[in-house]
Amino acid sequence: MTVSTATGVACANIALIKYWGNRDNDLRLPVNGSISMNLDGLVTTTTVTFNASQRDTLTINGGEITGKGLERVSRILDLIRATANINEKADVISENNFPAGAGIASSASAFAALALAGSKAAGLDLSERELSRLARRGSGSASRSIPGGFVEWQAGANAEDSFAFSIASPAQWNLVDLVAIVSAAHKTTGSTEGHAVAPTSPLQAARVNDTPRRLEICRTAILQKDFNALASIVELDSDMMHAVMMTSTPALHYWKPASLAVMTAVRAWRTDGRPICYTVDAGANVHVITVESEARAVEENLRALAGVNDVLIARVGGAARLAANGDS
Ligand code: DP6
Repeated sequence: MTVSTATGVACANIALIKYWGNRDNDLRLPVNGSISMNLDGLVTTTTVTFNASQRDTLTINGGEITGKGLERVSRILDLIRATANINEKADVISENNFPAGAGIASSASAFAALALAGSKAAGLDLSERELSRLARRGSGSASRSIPGGFVEWQAGANAEDSFAFSIASPAQWNLVDLVAIVSAAHKTTGSTEGHAVAPTSPLQAARVNDTPRRLEICRTAILQKDFNALASIVELDSDMMHAVMMTSTPALHYWKPASLAVMTAVRAWRTDGRPICYTVDAGANVHVITVESEARAVEENLRALAGVNDVLIARVGGAARLAANGDS
């Protein structure tokens, strides 16, 4: 094989209906379906180059990564190598344009960009569905950063039919995600460890059994642009996941006092008639969802809250894409 290289760009995403817990941790087959929106402008750009070197290498934001981080990437490269029938090792160079510790999980955009760049560099031309499945093996939520706009990841009955697809384009609804940064500390328990303990919570079965209902309400709210319906289901879903986290063994408490202060303020602003709701991933920072016309005012209000150190703003993003090398 001649030296082959490709660059992929993928957005982060915020889950509106959360993925929490796996049926199969190795294949990353989730216990429930999930829905997210891609976050425009919060991207990972990854270049993969297959070459004659003796081992895979990984560089993230200019620093070389070895150990577990590299192993996780090599496992995806192994899947690509097996499909493309090649043996070459690869150099992987990845840049996130959003600050580390900003409460934006980089694994979703990172594994989506890796799946796209790696498969292309290996000479494969995978479909969106195949790319979504491949990205899923690196990080579950990465399956949702392959298609554009509002995206659903169906749990599926097996590894083949567990992939994500777009349910509406970015143009469907001008929602804005304002991420209230209350803590820049690296979280103590990552999602992968969290998924593994989810079944220890007595609340997890109830959460999982109720998921088809929440997915349906969320899907319909997006298609009908019904903010009130979206707000109540998104907050319920986030609270249900955190109830599971808090009642797992070991217990996972991601919220900080300032997280709760933001959530309380958001609920009060909604009572005052503002289209606004919150959702929180496996961290302390609060994603505040609103519509474009309210974004400026919401940003000011969030910045005025004690404990909010910064606010990141993202609109609805598109699908993962290939870039000319050097382009981002
Ligand atoms: C709380 O996809 O980060 O953000 O598959 O182990 O990488 P791994 O987990 P990950 O889990 C995401 C958990 C979540 C909810 C969500 O994004 O759906």
